[in-house]
This record gives sequence, structure tokens and C-alpha cells, in this order.
Amino acid sequence: SVYEEPYRPQLHFTPKSGWMNDPNGMVYINGVYHLFFQHYPDSTVWGPMHWGHATSTDLVHWEEQSIKLFPDSLGWIFSGSAVYDQQNTSGLGKDGKGPLVAIFTHHSSDGEKTRGKDFQYQSLAYSNDEGKTWTKYEGNPVLRKPEGTDFRDPKVFWMAGVNKWIMTLAVKDHIEFYSSPDLKSWSYESSFGADKGAHGGVWECPDLVSFLADGKEKWVLIVNMNPGAPNGGSGTQYFVGDFDGRDFTASHTDTRWMDFGPDNYAGVTWSNTGNRTLLIGWMSNWAYANQVPTQNWRSATTLVRELALQKVGNEYYLQSTLLNELNQLAGSTTTDPAALQLPARFELAAIPLQQVEWIFSNEAGEELRLGFDKESNRYYIDRTKAGEASFHPDFAKRLYAPRIAAGDSIKWTVVMDHSSVELLADDGLTVMTALFFPSSLYTNLNAPAVRYTPLESIWKKK
Ligand code: FRU
Repeated sequence: SVYEEPYRPQLHFTPKSGWMNDPNGMVYINGVYHLFFQHYPDSTVWGPMHWGHATSTDLVHWEEQSIKLFPDSLGWIFSGSAVYDQQNTSGLGKDGKGPLVAIFTHHSSDGEKTRGKDFQYQSLAYSNDEGKTWTKYEGNPVLRKPEGTDFRDPKVFWMAGVNKWIMTLAVKDHIEFYSSPDLKSWSYESSFGADKGAHGGVWECPDLVSFLADGKEKWVLIVNMNPGAPNGGSGTQYFVGDFDGRDFTASHTDTRWMDFGPDNYAGVTWSNTGNRTLLIGWMSNWAYANQVPTQNWRSATTLVRELALQKVGNEYYLQSTLLNELNQLAGSTTTDPAALQLPARFELAAIPLQQVEWIFSNEAGEELRLGFDKESNRYYIDRTKAGEASFHPDFAKRLYAPRIAAGDSIKWTVVMDHSSVELLADDGLTVMTALFFPSSLYTNLNAPAVRYTPLESIWKKK
């Protein structure tokens, strides 16, 4: 099967063939988690964007579906979100039932030929059969600007209390908030961020989510940015603060990163999941995404992560944890990884702060190292000798992440797939996601204090 190709992830969603980038339009309805994604089915490099589609009932096993949104006369279909319009505010529902509505960016490169400019505006598509078929709204686009370059990636949610849809939009070097009663007519509310956070690149794919932190509502604004991430290329920063339906204000001035590894980008959350805040990212980096050495497809999603706020000192930080749903793949846990088989989960139980290093390796002598450097108080993943890396000069290197937790012990969970590692340290306060491309699977692990749990492939039944 295609899922047995070299480097093919066994725990992560990949399209059977063709190019994929950002996850889009994630929405839950009636037992089904929908995942759409930036997709170019005719090539393994980025090009005219479609929305591919996959579904899951457990956020672990994925079923690829047919392509749902194709480029049209208004342009290519860039990133965006989807909501369940339960009260049929849009009037696009049927038989007294509310529709699913996708809010996405149309990207027209017509301007490229004429005025050297691209145009981006926001459009709608709707589904009255729980995501099986989609119709583009005849009034598209629903939000445009005369100068619409870098005006994209709408993330929409219903804000109870103010009784309006709120759109968070990436506009080059800042975020703009818009509101709407019906998803069709949008009013500008406010801007945030031109003078806040990291600005090493263009702001993209934002999200605005709320949490209860010590009984109080706190808001987190997620902002993806390319380039300018801590380990190079694209990455995800976030701001903790307040949102009143009009303005977002951050409660800190330092820059914070959701994932310090190079390969988690464009992540945003599912809508309609109640109290759970579930994020999935694109497990690659714009620095080399078009060059990674996979054959018939390019790129995977990250594992789904559940987000929460965690207090460290007087500050709240984002915490990412893996889902309990993953346990259904688990074999029996041992402390002896002698017969190492990937994919698998590895745990370092809480130990006093000290230098730790784990080394995964294969028969060819390729190795991936990860560890904690006590002196600099940083975690690291070292893929310098991890395997094939000639496709990009910056790929083979040691990647660092600061330790955010304050206590005097460390612990982590590591999930290793055939070509990726996800390191979640200190209950997910410091997270690193990284790709690697060994010539054969790693079969050895040299690690103190490890608990090893083999995980079954999610494609096993395919
Ligand atoms: C982020 C991004 C989005 C855009 C999409 C195009 O990776 O650049 O801003 O909508 O990819 O594929």
C-alpha cells in the first residue's frame, strides 16, 4: 500500500499522493472530526491550491476523502476555517437545519501578470450534508480590501455573550478582527500586533481561543509566521491576554512559541469541540517543505494536541499534550527498548535536573539525538547525522528549545514515527517537532530511564 513507502508516517495523516500544506477548516460534527488541507493533487510541490479532505472518528485514524474545494474564477483556495452554523444565521441551511460553513481565502494571481500584485479576499462555501458535498456561496467574496495582498487565513468562531461571529485574519504584519451576524457581512473591529511579538516574517494562519485559567477566562492569540522562527523558517508564536469581542490585549511583552521545533506550522484548532481545545499543525517548514525527499506525496500533519494554559510563576503559558485516544495504538510498555520498533512512544519519568541524552540509530550509523542540556537549561533535538539532509543546507543541525517549567525535575514524552519526532517536555510546556530522513528505520535506542511503548500503525487496517 502507499502507506508502506519509505518515510511514510505511520501515526500521522498524509495524503495518498500529491502536495499538502496547512490543515484547514477543522470542525467536529455528529461524531466526525473533519480535516481539510491545502492540497495540490497534480504535483508534489506547492501550486494551485485545493481543499483536500480527511475524516476521523477518534482523531487518530484518518480516512482520506475526495477533494472538496477546487480553484475557480476568483482564484485558488487558500487557508481558512469551518464552523457549524447551528442557528442558521447565514440562511444557507436546509430543512430547518444549520449548515457547515467554510470561510476561506480566495487567492488570485491574475494581478501577478498585470500589476505585479496578488489579491486575497475571503469567501464562503457551505455543506448541508455534514461535509460530504460543498457549494460555493454565490455572493463571494464576502470580505475584501482594495489592496488585498497578505490578507488571509480567516479563523471564525461564534462568540457567545456578544452574539456575533468573530473572524481573526492575518494581514501581513498584524492581525485584524472582524465581526458578523451572519457570516456574510463583516465589520472591522480592531487590529493587533504590528508592534508586538516576533516580526521576522509574514503573519499567517491566526487563531483566537479562550481558556479557563484559575476560574478566569483568558484568551490566546495564535500567530503563525514565515520566516523568523527560533530554529529558522516558519513557526508559531502566541500571545496570552484578553478579548472583549472587539479588542485583543496581550498581558506580556516577551515572544512566546507554541512549538520550538522547526516542523510544526500553520496549526489552528478544531471548532465545535466544546471544552476541548484541539490543535493540529502542518509537520514541515517552508524553508525546505518543497524539497524533502519523499516520493509520491509531500508533508504530514502533526499529532493532534490538546491545549491548555499552565501557570509558571505569575505567567500563563500554553501547554500541549497528546491525546488519550493514542492509547488505543499502544502495545505493552517496557523499560527495555532492545527490540525497538517504530512508531513508538518513549517516556522519561520525572528525574532531578541533569544532563540527559537519548540516541536513536540505525545500522547505517545514522543517529538522532535528543536531550536536555543542564547548563543552558535547554532541550535539544540533534538531526545533524540523522540521515538524508542534502536537500537543504540548514536541515542538518542541532535544534534548541528553552525549558519553561520552573521546578527542579524534568520529564518528557517522545513520539517517534518513521520520519518525525515530537518531544513534549515538562507536561507540554516545551515542545519540539522535527522531521528526519534516515536511510532505514532506527532500530536502536541508547537511553537511560526510558519507558518504551510500541504503537501500532494507524494504517494497519488499510
Ligand atoms: C501558510 C500559507 C497561508 C496560505 C497558504 C497557501 O502556510 O502561506 O498563509 O493561505 O499557506 O497555501
